[in-house]
Amino acid sequence: MKERITDLKGRIVFATSNEGKMKEVRMILSGCGCEVLSLREAGIDVDAEENGTTFEENAIIKVKAIRPFTDAVVLADDSGLEVDYLDKAPGVYSARFMGHDTSYELKNREIIRRLSGVEGEERSARFVCVIAASLPDGRILTTRGTIEGVIAHEPSGTGGFGYDPIVLVPELGKTTAELEAEEKNRISHRGKALRQMREKLRALGYCS
Ligand code: IMP
Repeated sequence: MKERITDLKGRIVFATSNEGKMKEVRMILSGCGCEVLSLREAGIDVDAEENGTTFEENAIIKVKAIRPFTDAVVLADDSGLEVDYLDKAPGVYSARFMGHDTSYELKNREIIRRLSGVEGEERSARFVCVIAASLPDGRILTTRGTIEGVIAHEPSGTGGFGYDPIVLVPELGKTTAELEAEEKNRISHRGKALRQMREKLRALGYCS
């Protein structure tokens, strides 16, 4: 078993073709002693249908779809925005909310509209990211990271993407679209989940 792990140590495939996400992933995994490859760099072309109802299910669907194509550790993420007052919507449907092609300006306005008359703590929301790992021995691991916030009354800020302009982090007094990229990476849901995954992989001897 140990020999197999040593043989395989050195390569992690992250299941995304999004270069922005890969940049963040490489930053967080830097110095881990593994070469971190995107799907394109690994020469894998698979598009799994994300039909799960939880972030965990979707992240696991993605790593399982890649497993047959490589012996490396495979990582994938699934993320989204949960708004408590909306029963945690849009949740796993964050990218699909109001249709894939609808602009985030409209999606953000609609969320603010659905919360009209709702004040204070009832506006609570969070970004969630789950990272799944498929290990070469068949084991599946998951980690989860969040950033807690409240839905702002108006969109604010031009940084980030997606729902960033409406998620206000009370301790910082800023939306996540008003944070510098490094600051957002430091506290991001994806960063937290990925750092936890790095720890788990380190404990199992897959990276340092
Ligand atoms: P995916 O996990 O890359 O498919 O992202 C799902 C969706 O969640 C994105 O398209 C965004 O709508 C939303 N989302 C996830 N993370 C963030 C974030 O950091 N800021 C803003 N929106 C996010």
